[in-house]
Amino acid sequence: MGSLRRKLASYSEQGMHSFHTPGHKGRSDILSPLIFPDHDLTELPGLDMLHNPQGVIAEAQRKAAGIYGAGETFFLVNGATAGNHAMFMTLMNGQKGKKIRIERKAHRSVIGALILSGLEPEYIASVIHPDFGLPLGLDREEYCNISEQVGAFHLTNPSYYGTAIDLDFIIQWRDKIMPAVPVLVDQAHGSHFKGDLFPKGAVDQGADIVVHSTHKTLAALTQAAMLHVQGNRIDKIALQKSLELLQTSSPSYLLMESLDNAVSHWNEYCWDDLYEEVMLLQKKLAGSLRILTKKDIGDFGVKDVDWTKILVNISTLEISSSDFVEILRSSFQIEPELWDENNILFLLGIGNKPEDVRILSEALESLVKRFGCLSSQGYGKAVIRKEHEFSWKELSKTKFLPSVRLTPREAWLAAKKAIKVKDCLGRIAGETISIYPPGIPLIAAGEEITPCVLHYLEQAGRYRWQGWQGFRQSEILIVDI
Ligand SMILES: Cc1ncc(COP(=O)(O)O)c(C=O)c1O
Repeated sequence: MGSLRRKLASYSEQGMHSFHTPGHKGRSDILSPLIFPDHDLTELPGLDMLHNPQGVIAEAQRKAAGIYGAGETFFLVNGATAGNHAMFMTLMNGQKGKKIRIERKAHRSVIGALILSGLEPEYIASVIHPDFGLPLGLDREEYCNISEQVGAFHLTNPSYYGTAIDLDFIIQWRDKIMPAVPVLVDQAHGSHFKGDLFPKGAVDQGADIVVHSTHKTLAALTQAAMLHVQGNRIDKIALQKSLELLQTSSPSYLLMESLDNAVSHWNEYCWDDLYEEVMLLQKKLAGSLRILTKKDIGDFGVKDVDWTKILVNISTLEISSSDFVEILRSSFQIEPELWDENNILFLLGIGNKPEDVRILSEALESLVKRFGCLSSQGYGKAVIRKEHEFSWKELSKTKFLPSVRLTPREAWLAAKKAIKVKDCLGRIAGETISIYPPGIPLIAAGEEITPCVLHYLEQAGRYRWQGWQGFRQSEILIVDI
């Protein structure tokens, strides 16, 4: 047995309760229509071709488009990452002299899209929620305040943490003021947004192109995602060509079959029962833990909340979040999606059962009893108590917007050199560095390194990083000019 297989086998033997991606949660009953290995096939006569679909793939994509109300749907076999990349590649023609307005809580794949396309970003700061210290909202007026030539709008909705922004407002404003400009939405975390239980999906709201990371919350295999397009602001031929360029020439039928399956059955499982359990959990823990709920709608740029993301702030407890997570894992077999120094995110998917939420609720209750409340006044008075933690709030004091000195592509192509982090203030970042998860860039390639960014880079050992090669040597890649 290979070591990777051994590791995976020993992990799955632990029988953890999954509060992370993928959305199927390892349930073979949800995935059982997948026939492995028989259906691991290639482009054979009688089957179809993803890059020029005429038969069953075209039919499955049409069905998905019908379910989501899109004009056309494209299956993706390299995640929502490929969707973000393709959206930007499609825009390359006719964008000279125009900027792409991008909400800054975008995933790092959006910076990748800027590198691939060469498009020029104009970043708009997200609103940091003071209780969680996280970028959860967007000031819609600020986003719609245009002074320059804008070629497209890119928004991330919902956030990783399940908050939705006021996309309706932005799209209605676009329709009035700049009707030709396309709205691109990264809805990676909201493939399940259909029906009354969830926030509205971006296709229904009128966005021109929308990416879903289907594997995150529905019953699709990891990497399986979708790109939906509608209207005539997006050049479909350019889109098709971009996808052909970016994706493998051997797309997996298993991934595509899982997408077909995921949309066919999205509503057959127990969303309603899960909803009831989550409401009970919120009720039981209100007063002892700060949990993101519907009550947060209307504040700090949050227009709606997806209850399937259970975001818990534990800063009132006398325990660090990493120790808290360790106990959740070892004593309760609960595996969360992510955590930072104050918050833990539990992600529900179509494969979760109501008893999973009950187990989580009991575990949280028991840990609250054990580690008590720091504040007798309840969570509302919770202070973010750790002094040196990474906090988007801290970054937002400087508006968290380092100036863009080069486009990410210019920085990518420029000569670069590694220097000591302590010497990098004011230099242009040659790499995009994110604390992972969530993968929102702390500094994007081409941006000037500010004192605030430097402050966090100097505490490298405290975080898990993505995109930063030299962090062990305390070095950073800068543009050599
Ligand atoms: C907001 C957002 N967009 C895009 C992606 C990329 O999705 P995928 O993993 O399907 O490539 C992620 C991944 O976490 C994400 O959080």
